Amino acid sequence: MTEKLHRIGDAVATEGFSFVESADMQGLLDVAGLRDWEGFSASWDDLGLDAFMADGGRYRRRRHAAFALSADGIRRKPHQPHYQSRDYNPLNGGLERWFEPITEATGTHPALEAVLKTCFALFDPLTPAGTKPEVWHTEVHQFRIEARADEAGRPTPEGMHRDGVDWVLVMLVRRENVSSGTTNIHDLAGRPLGSFTLRQPLESAVVDDARVFHGVTPVEPIDPARPAFRDVLVVTMRRP
Ligand SMILES: [Fe+2]
Repeated sequence: MTEKLHRIGDAVATEGFSFVESADMQGLLDVAGLRDWEGFSASWDDLGLDAFMADGGRYRRRRHAAFALSADGIRRKPHQPHYQSRDYNPLNGGLERWFEPITEATGTHPALEAVLKTCFALFDPLTPAGTKPEVWHTEVHQFRIEARADEAGRPTPEGMHRDGVDWVLVMLVRRENVSSGTTNIHDLAGRPLGSFTLRQPLESAVVDDARVFHGVTPVEPIDPARPAFRDVLVVTMRRP
């Protein structure tokens, strides 16, 4: 576990981001207690519609929860709105957005706990000692982006952006009948640093949010007659 973590951490420290292979993430999560991935993944079938889409889109479903994350463990915080300033999200930011809470079962699921433990193990040591908080304010988002023949699904309608946090993990949970959805990474001057597509469950992008922008291209259905969607788990960590 430590060797894999170090390798990923080194990449993030050097490049500002890293693409993590499914097998590597699986190894890390197994050590952290991953169980019942299938049950965890199935919880994406029960997400609420995102009603705060400034582009009028009805293609994004989500649930949200906040946690306190520290060496002492994981504590769920009372349900609260998600807030991004307009500096970070000119499209949908600037207001408190209330989303459906992540269910109790999902919030305490061993897969989610394994992901949160792994995020702490990866990101906390990457944080300079002088700026490291005792407890990380951590937000978890379950997202489903639906693609239809008449409406492409936009994973990041705000375009290339930063989340306004310290660290970000984007993990693919499931891709069903969609093409594209390519993740792009730019430096702060807008120069492309990397591009990849999360295809397999557990494949992840880890991002130093202070150093790079990220964005994902729209997803389209491969077979327009069938349901098409992209499910991801996003975890952000910031100083409280
Ligand atoms: Fe983002």
